[in-house]
Amino acid sequence: AALVRYKFVVQETNYTRLCSSKNILTVNGRYPGPTISARRGDTVIVDVINQATQNITIHWHGVKQPRYPWSDGPEFITQCPIQPGSHFSQKIILSDEEGTLWWHAHSDWSRATVHGLLVVSPKIGTTYPFAEPHAEVPVILGEWWKNDIQTVMEDFLRRGGDPEPSDALTINGQPGVRYNCSRQETTKVKVDQGKTYMLRMVNAAMNNIMFFAIADHQLTVVGSDGAYTKPLKTNYVAISPGQTIDLLLETNQPHNHYYMAAKFYNSNPATIIKYNGNYTASPSPLLPLLPAFNDRNASFNFTRSLRSLASTDHPVDVPMKITRKLLYTLLINTLPCGNNSVCGGPQGRRFAASINNITFDTPKTSILGAYYRGMNGVYGDDFPDNPPFIFNYTSDSLNSSVQTPMNGTEVKILKYNDTVELVFQGTNVVSGIDHPMHLHGHSFYVVGSGIGNFDRQRDPLNYNLVDPPLQQTIAVPQNGWTAIRFRANNPGVWFMHCHFERHISWGMEMVFIVWNGKTSDANMLPPPPDMPKC
Ligand code: C2O
Ligand code: CU
Repeated sequence: AALVRYKFVVQETNYTRLCSSKNILTVNGRYPGPTISARRGDTVIVDVINQATQNITIHWHGVKQPRYPWSDGPEFITQCPIQPGSHFSQKIILSDEEGTLWWHAHSDWSRATVHGLLVVSPKIGTTYPFAEPHAEVPVILGEWWKNDIQTVMEDFLRRGGDPEPSDALTINGQPGVRYNCSRQETTKVKVDQGKTYMLRMVNAAMNNIMFFAIADHQLTVVGSDGAYTKPLKTNYVAISPGQTIDLLLETNQPHNHYYMAAKFYNSNPATIIKYNGNYTASPSPLLPLLPAFNDRNASFNFTRSLRSLASTDHPVDVPMKITRKLLYTLLINTLPCGNNSVCGGPQGRRFAASINNITFDTPKTSILGAYYRGMNGVYGDDFPDNPPFIFNYTSDSLNSSVQTPMNGTEVKILKYNDTVELVFQGTNVVSGIDHPMHLHGHSFYVVGSGIGNFDRQRDPLNYNLVDPPLQQTIAVPQNGWTAIRFRANNPGVWFMHCHFERHISWGMEMVFIVWNGKTSDANMLPPPPDMPKC
């Protein structure tokens, strides 16, 4: 395994989109940021230098960082922010991840522009579990606001309602041709006819699950979240914020250009980007057919159809004997506005999001630091294993006793090598919506999902324990549930949250602390000397 080194200078850079300019936060002046390339098992050192005027942290999304949470990145969970003028040398320790991952800022809403791909190729001497593609094409789905993103976030927090919607959807940093001023700039991918291309896709959007398709072309899914899947032929893809999908595209069509397009699921603007080829001209590119924005089944069915490759080279290892059974309800509800004069949520209240009725309060110092040094008063260890009340989560009404979530900084303690089954229960209450749940430090097997209330007796009988997909982000359906299993074999402090930025701001997050095991190779490694201070 190699040691690879990168330098990330975080800075303000002027960018123009939609005929309007603003300063954005970038890495090395680039938006989207630079791609990190490594091979399975490599270690990458990234020297992060903050030359901007605001605090920042960087997270390596999908990298498990065995025994080394120190570089994981979520602000006030595993580290204090890197302040303007200071730097932090972060270590990305790759283990069994292989495929497309990504990195992004993990403080405030700065990940809107501070993100990029992290590509993990097979080890030297090994190959993809499919024929070597002719070339690889990054497809980074994102969102662009004409307003400053920090201002967008602050307005949203002040008003208590929904955030200002973005002004454009982007692919590789460029809005589609349908937006004003974007026709020339729209990303164009040049391909040769009769070849196979690998699309390395990430949904880096802030607040929306997306549908994606290419006109007249079938796509083959071969991987997601840094693990291979059984090849899945499909006409469209549904991808959650945080999720990555690897796709094969065969350029086997007769015309010279096609659009590839992405649009929001659960809200309806569309973006289009152009796909160029060297073959027969057609007057104007064809638009792909995408599912309707409110087509819940299209999203759920696609997500449910992913399967692990489950081959000799890429075996599955689903925990069979479970030591921790957890049921977490994901709920959006409301809180009184306090002394805010404007309050944009329903019934003059503000939105609050919770897991098991706890809205997470982010502390002012790092939870990992407090845990490592045995500091009291930063967090509690009372995160409930089950929802605190019996309720029909999928009905439309909610009685007032559970209208008010509790605030808290509660963690769930896991013992080293605990085998966890965690069922997320989605809800239909106040503002029911899918929640793309993301766990740091671990991959998990998605063993089951369904519509309605989870049934502890009946539903586990239908779990897929043979070839469930191995993921790090999973869209829990509104009005339904998703069951995951993982082994807590990574000692440290690990964040778990909905990957919708507005839901993080509303408190839909919690923390697992995995205790050290008995032997020294099951212990957390010591912190690096240059950990940022609060
Ligand atoms: Cu992609 Cu906690 O993050
Ligand atoms: Cu959510």
